[in-house]
Amino acid sequence: MRLITLGEIDSTNRYLRALAEDGAEQGTLALAERQTNGRGRLDRRFDSPSGGLYMSLLLRPESALADPTLVTVMAALAAAEAIEEACPTLSVGIKWVNDLYLGERKLAGILAESSFSPSGTVRYVIVGIGVNLAKGNLDPSLAEIATSIEAHTGMIPDRIALSEKIALRLLSYLADPREVTTKYRRRMILLGRRIRCFEGSREYTARAIDVDEAGGLIVSRFGRKRTLRYGEVSIRIKK
Ligand code: BTN
Repeated sequence: MRLITLGEIDSTNRYLRALAEDGAEQGTLALAERQTNGRGRLDRRFDSPSGGLYMSLLLRPESALADPTLVTVMAALAAAEAIEEACPTLSVGIKWVNDLYLGERKLAGILAESSFSPSGTVRYVIVGIGVNLAKGNLDPSLAEIATSIEAHTGMIPDRIALSEKIALRLLSYLADPREVTTKYRRRMILLGRRIRCFEGSREYTARAIDVDEAGGLIVSRFGRKRTLRYGEVSIRIKK
């Protein structure tokens, strides 16, 4: 693993993409103190003030493991386990596919971005992970929906040590993914719950049933099952 620490940057995913294009190796890890243009899934903004952990890890997976849904599932599991290793009193849940939760509030998010060759094979995947560490710096508009490690433990874990823990776990799941979906399933906060799904302009209600071996979310709607993938779906828990 090669760690690159940065002060302020627009986005660690964008920064690492340039290194990947120049041939950087799997395991290159960029860690920033804050981001001016942090990005989330579906082109959303990711608020990134100082006091958070903003990291991107470069993967060059074999094609069977390069699916963004599965990479995101691995990253969410690796981050949840690493956070609990650093802060053993926490119990980190996962909201499919890419959000980590403490209770009913979001603690962290993941954005996996793949680059393909003209023949369609994956050249690399950049996995960006943002974790709210300190409680003071989050935008007040997020108070109802976001939380931080400090808000739950009174402590702020070491950013460098935590980012390395996450990266090492993710690399080891990539090398041996056998237990990933079983362990991921145990942390899922959606299972059995009614959810609202948004696909482009479509919105519907379903029940979350399970996750499949490729990391897709199996939902049931009017007695029919279907599997949702990472792409364009966004999910809210129905109250
Ligand atoms: C989401 O919540 O939709 C995903 C958020 C991913 C944020 C991380 S922070 C490090 C990396 N750089 C970015 O611009 N985004 C990811």
